[in-house]
Amino acid sequence: MASIKFDWSEYYEIGIPEVDEQHKQLFSIGRTIEQMSMKGGENVTDQEILSLVNSLRDYTGFHFYSEEKLMEEIHYEDMQLHKKHHAQMLYFVSNYDIRKFRKNFEATVAEILDIISDQVVHHILGDDKKFATAYKTYQKIHKHMDDKVKADRMENEESYGFTIKEFNSSIAYLMRDQSASGHCVIVNKEKKAKYLAMTALERDSFHADMIRVAKAVKKVFKPDAIDYMYFEDVDENLLFHIIPKYQGAEDFGKSPVYDAGKELTEDEYKDLVAKIGSEIK
Ligand SMILES: [Fe+2]
Ligand SMILES: [Fe+2]
Repeated sequence: MASIKFDWSEYYEIGIPEVDEQHKQLFSIGRTIEQMSMKGGENVTDQEILSLVNSLRDYTGFHFYSEEKLMEEIHYEDMQLHKKHHAQMLYFVSNYDIRKFRKNFEATVAEILDIISDQVVHHILGDDKKFATAYKTYQKIHKHMDDKVKADRMENEESYGFTIKEFNSSIAYLMRDQSASGHCVIVNKEKKAKYLAMTALERDSFHADMIRVAKAVKKVFKPDAIDYMYFEDVDENLLFHIIPKYQGAEDFGKSPVYDAGKELTEDEYKDLVAKIGSEIK
């Protein structure tokens, strides 16, 4: 008779809660097989054997699928080898000849328990733990990046105004101060970037974003000219102000007046953000 092998303990935890839950479930199927082995072959119906083997096969398939999804999510470098091990185990449980149970119940149960416990435990402690380390590292880095992007954005909204659109390398905001009607700013995502230190590619991408926003501003506000400004010694971020100029206004033909403290209502800001956003092509 097989010894007890499927007692769950923290030792088997890999630290990804959904995977640990699934492993516990696999252990519990293993325990049911153990209990079946204790009952002895004559007290176990064919139906019980069949449903147990089916649940083992189905649950293993589901579990491997879930784990592989997580691996794909993080582009796990050892995914191919790990998938191969899954495929081998799945082949074993899917192709097990259950008629063997009837021929020699005890030996068959013992064999299946040995193989499953050996493979499952070995796999969890080896392949799965290794994957979990990679997964948790990835999560940590990502969470950190997400938090940073959110913090930067909040800080920017405080400094400038309302987010119009996020591009790959920059974010466009409608300025809260609308002394120059349609005044927007495009802020490079990398804080403290220096204009002259940008690579040609970074510069091109930043300028392309700026031009897309300026064209949308031109469409929505129909100014007679647009001024572009960046003050390296004043602005904390690398950014360009996009300032529409209107003929007949006091500052036309001169340096723009863009900070006279003209504010709009929240609805007006929302409306302009939507209008400019929809014109960015
Ligand atoms: Fe696995
Ligand atoms: Fe697993």
